[in-house]
Amino acid sequence: MARKAHHAGAINRRGFIKAGILAGGLTAVASGRKRGGSHPELVDPKLAPHDHSGHGSAGTVGDVDHAANGFDPSELLYDWDFGTVSTLPSGQTLREYEITASDKDIEVAPGVFFPAWVYNGRVPGPTLRAVEGDRVRIEFTNAGSHPHTIHFHGIHAASMDGVPGVGAGNIEPGHSTVYEFDALPMGCHLYHCHTLPLKRHIHKGLYGAFVIDPDPNRYSGEEVEIAKSRNHQFPENRSVNEMVMLMNAFDTNFDGGNEIYAVNTVAFAYMNRPIQIRRDQLQRLYLINITEFDPINSMHLHANFFDYYDHGTTLRPTLKTVDTIMQAQAQRGILEFSYEGYEPGLYMFHAHVSEFAELGWMGFFDVVE
Ligand code: CU
Ligand code: CU
Repeated sequence: MARKAHHAGAINRRGFIKAGILAGGLTAVASGRKRGGSHPELVDPKLAPHDHSGHGSAGTVGDVDHAANGFDPSELLYDWDFGTVSTLPSGQTLREYEITASDKDIEVAPGVFFPAWVYNGRVPGPTLRAVEGDRVRIEFTNAGSHPHTIHFHGIHAASMDGVPGVGAGNIEPGHSTVYEFDALPMGCHLYHCHTLPLKRHIHKGLYGAFVIDPDPNRYSGEEVEIAKSRNHQFPENRSVNEMVMLMNAFDTNFDGGNEIYAVNTVAFAYMNRPIQIRRDQLQRLYLINITEFDPINSMHLHANFFDYYDHGTTLRPTLKTVDTIMQAQAQRGILEFSYEGYEPGLYMFHAHVSEFAELGWMGFFDVVE
């Protein structure tokens, strides 16, 4: 579990979320149910905005101001950035992106603010999406107060690796660089700042998803159809509901341990607003763990099982029929599942590290006909 300060006067994690909620002028009331003589529940069920039964009440009271944040977790799920697309003389597709790093205070739970460092004004940064073999060109500008880089997980030259001392190295405030490489291998990848101290630059919010769709022309047999289903340029892909979630967390009191956990930044965002999905539709979830300080994060899907593609680099599942997956930091994969034939209703998903779940990493799919 997370390394935490235990010196006298240190506020514990659960104390923090409660204090933050109170500081925000909102009411949190302990229900009186205690475990092991401590850790009262955060919220009185009567006060919770959505009292979903089944796991008892958990969550935050009130709402995060998504407009002030400049991003909304419900929209981040589906917000793909395909770049500005053109064709190079060689016939290769070129995708151009602009990414700017800056400093920004964001609200990660109602009344709990975090002084983030952001790519394009949001945490996570834009979800870049390309096709296997495309040329990708990223113009990176540092408008922040510290040096930053973008390091991509993928195949590229050393000079494009976005690490200090190699290629353009650290990009100082007010400076720019261009990262350019071919999008390989296909899969569910990520990018993040690689400036030292690394744990600080990552946990401050400088990360995002980088999805590379398979090119059906590179496959044969049954795999051609699977590749089309994974490739946003094909109609076969449009029948699938594709979502992206980054498991992240925030050390709001800078003690080297996280106080708030989430997918896509805002604690309990998908509990307060469940993700509506059609029960007859195939669901494909690009899941990435970018949690700092804790060695492992995980996701558990309720009342259902999924197929899993580790790193998304294969067209066949690497795990079949599982309901929980764990990921180390930067590990990621694709989950595929369907609620076909299920009773409509609210189906939970959450970290199966219970503490993370209770501190924000918990949500619902609202399965509809
Ligand atoms: Cu940085
Ligand atoms: Cu990395």
